[in-house]
Amino acid sequence: MSTTREPVTIIGLGNLGRALAETFLANGHPTTVWNRSAVKAETLVAGGATAAGTVADAVAASELVVVALLDPAVAREVLAGAADAVRGRALVNLTSGGPQDARELTGWAAEHGAEYLHGAVYAVPQTIGTTESSINYSGSAAVHQRWQAQLEILGKATFVGTDAGRASGYDVAILAGMYGMLGGFLHAAAIARAAGISATELTPMLVSWLTDVFPALVTFAKEIDSGDYTTEESNLVMNQSGLATIITASTSHGIPASPLAPLKELIDQQVAAGHGAASFARAVESLRSGA
Ligand SMILES: NC(=O)c1ccc[n+]([C@@H]2O[C@H](COP(=O)([O-])OP(=O)(O)OC[C@H]3O[C@@H](n4cnc5c(N)ncnc54)[C@H](OP(=O)(O)O)[C@@H]3O)[C@@H](O)[C@H]2O)c1
Repeated sequence: MSTTREPVTIIGLGNLGRALAETFLANGHPTTVWNRSAVKAETLVAGGATAAGTVADAVAASELVVVALLDPAVAREVLAGAADAVRGRALVNLTSGGPQDARELTGWAAEHGAEYLHGAVYAVPQTIGTTESSINYSGSAAVHQRWQAQLEILGKATFVGTDAGRASGYDVAILAGMYGMLGGFLHAAAIARAAGISATELTPMLVSWLTDVFPALVTFAKEIDSGDYTTEESNLVMNQSGLATIITASTSHGIPASPLAPLKELIDQQVAAGHGAASFARAVESLRSGA
């Protein structure tokens, strides 16, 4: 299999798209670019890229077409402008969106004779093309296999399944976990500040404690998947009491308990339903669809 120098097209030259184009150029790929605001192509053209006049021309230029646009609606709108050019193309869409967005674009691509692979990027533009970048892909296994070497140039390329929505499914779940943790961090910093402890003083101890807590997630995951929440470690009543203490401390300083209160509500529901002796992870049962 040839691993380099196939022509590639990048649609969208925002911060991510520019980094993608620069990385392909640096690796010797003839690179065609298109962006709504043509001015963003200028430095890339100076570096050897070809600027296409229309999105259809850009798509026509390469078998591998990588899309990095603002959001799914923009991606759909822009690709619609190349509907007659996408036949036979491998569309690799790195635009963030939900699972359903990826599935809809898969259907659209199939209707127009193209194959679709969705990518969820775990990198910032500055780390694209380095070992600090990784991208989860789902959708067309054929596209992933055919273009794996080229996709690996951008970052570690992991295929997570043939349902195009799967990479986004992982993505929104992982980001939900991340934002939950970041919300917890901000709450922790506010409570510490009210107690005369700076965020800089707090953070090393917090990071150390969170690092010790991380392995519990693996245990919780097994409990969630098996539905067996039997525990002799840390049950819901104990966590309910601990959260009540934190919320009282927070509000006594006049600090809203808004980051934690929804979690306590989930626990309260499970305890009220008679599951107080169950593991903390049982609170997820209050997050079932229609719960
Ligand atoms: N940046 C990151 O660190 C990062 C990391 C992971 C994932 N992502 C995802 O990658 C995607 C792109 O991110 P980015 O950072 O490159 O965003 P960005 O810098 O804001 O660029 C947005 C791109 O979308 C285009 N665009 C916006 N509205 C448009 C419209 N109505 N018609 C045509 N083009 C339109 C912009 O064109 P103009 O230049 O003409 O405005 C630009 O090319 C997003 O979905 C983002 O969530 C980004």
